[in-house]
Amino acid sequence: MSMSDVVPWKIGVSTAPLPPMAPGIPWLGNALEIKSDPVRYVVKQYRRYGPIFRIKMLGKPITVLAGREALQFAATPEATEILSLRESYGGLEVEVGPVILSMEGEQHRHYRKLARPSHSRSQAAPHIAKLVEVVDQFIDGLEVGQSVDMLPAIRRMISTQLGMMMLNRPPGAYFDDFVKFSTYMLYVYQFQMWPKFMLRTAGFKKAKARVLQMLEELVEYHRRVPPGSERPHDALDEIMETVDAVGQPYGHTTLLATAMGPYIAGMDTASGTINFITYALHKHTECLERLRQEVRQAYAQGIPSADVLKDLPTLNSAIFETMRMYPLVPFLPRTAKSTFEFGGYRVDAGTSMFIATTATHFFPEYYPEPDTFNIDRDRGPAGTFNPYGFGAHSCLGAGMGELLIQIMVSRLIQRVDFQLDPPDFKATMEAIPVPNPGKYRLKVLDQN
Ligand code: HEM
Repeated sequence: MSMSDVVPWKIGVSTAPLPPMAPGIPWLGNALEIKSDPVRYVVKQYRRYGPIFRIKMLGKPITVLAGREALQFAATPEATEILSLRESYGGLEVEVGPVILSMEGEQHRHYRKLARPSHSRSQAAPHIAKLVEVVDQFIDGLEVGQSVDMLPAIRRMISTQLGMMMLNRPPGAYFDDFVKFSTYMLYVYQFQMWPKFMLRTAGFKKAKARVLQMLEELVEYHRRVPPGSERPHDALDEIMETVDAVGQPYGHTTLLATAMGPYIAGMDTASGTINFITYALHKHTECLERLRQEVRQAYAQGIPSADVLKDLPTLNSAIFETMRMYPLVPFLPRTAKSTFEFGGYRVDAGTSMFIATTATHFFPEYYPEPDTFNIDRDRGPAGTFNPYGFGAHSCLGAGMGELLIQIMVSRLIQRVDFQLDPPDFKATMEAIPVPNPGKYRLKVLDQN
């Protein structure tokens, strides 16, 4: 299918056939392929069936939309209106309160506009010294010869940086509770791989109670001590001070959910991306050495500014190429609210869907030799690189997330000489709970 192909679609009752079903094994369906290499599996089915087809996972059929033409359709206002996020992200609303990802229509547009400033790169830029300090504390605790499991360390740093910057409070002793809480949210609600009764286990209940306790404290503190000389204005004030789309003050549970956002928003996404970057760089040591030279120069006069980091070519190419090859959110989960037709096939109301936003990352017509990690490749055409999603709910923290990635990767590479452990480790591309290269460690060879 060529880039210019426009696929016909219409919303409403349809007598068209259901999309073709990819062959799979009983009950498990295509779960194993999706679990071991989700994007390449979808690209293969796209080549076979075109931009719409069905797969099956654990007995449940899922309609997949893939390719540029499908994204063009999914981003239209009409499709946005009927592709619901509630079934996937509503669990957070049940457990804590309305989160931006489960909001829809005018309520969502209004909240998103209010939350935009606190999620921006420019909000983060003045905090660089503090953000680097978080990475430095981690590095100062390393010892030569030590072998480090990077992902837990990166997650803690990201959650700490976002908590400090957006709410003036790092997660501290509550960090493990946030990790447990969001893992259960993923498995029970989003993937529906764990039964609901897991939410009644003592482990989950304790983590949730502690998460709520910290969020309640934060909201209470914000009510008691207004922003001013004692504390700066932050992301929670932004929502507390104003009214919702129908002119009412935001309810208590929305405030709790707002306070939770920074602690969990980067925990999988930004952290998982950095985890892949550190893997990829230490796998491709020629890129690592180029990057090390670049960042050592950048840090030679002290901590670089956000503008300097934005213009470092090797750093940004390495980030781009890693996000292309190892997108942390390969598909966007949606549910059809109304029946519609796309490309001559019918999608019934209530159908679970994957919008395969990152399949185009592996189309050779956009990214030649897509399976090769090549930091010198050209950027593909507009609309073919979507690690931050697309449309109405595209990542609000993309600019801030990118800055956190630039800071952490550059500082780690500048100060520490690591080696993959084991040295011949090769990523296995696990997709669950979120894409990751498998369990690798980095061994500290030297540090300054
Ligand atoms: C590499 C880092 C990141 C990646 C790859 C990423 C990816 C995404 C994706 C794909 C979505 C859309 C989900 C969907 O439509 O189903 C999203 C939404 C969102 N992200 Fe990120 N994200 C990253 C970092 C961050 C950070 C650091 C923050 C917080 C500061 C953040 C805040 C948000 C918010 C608030 C939304 C919801 C937007 C809305 O519903 O309107 N993200 N992100």
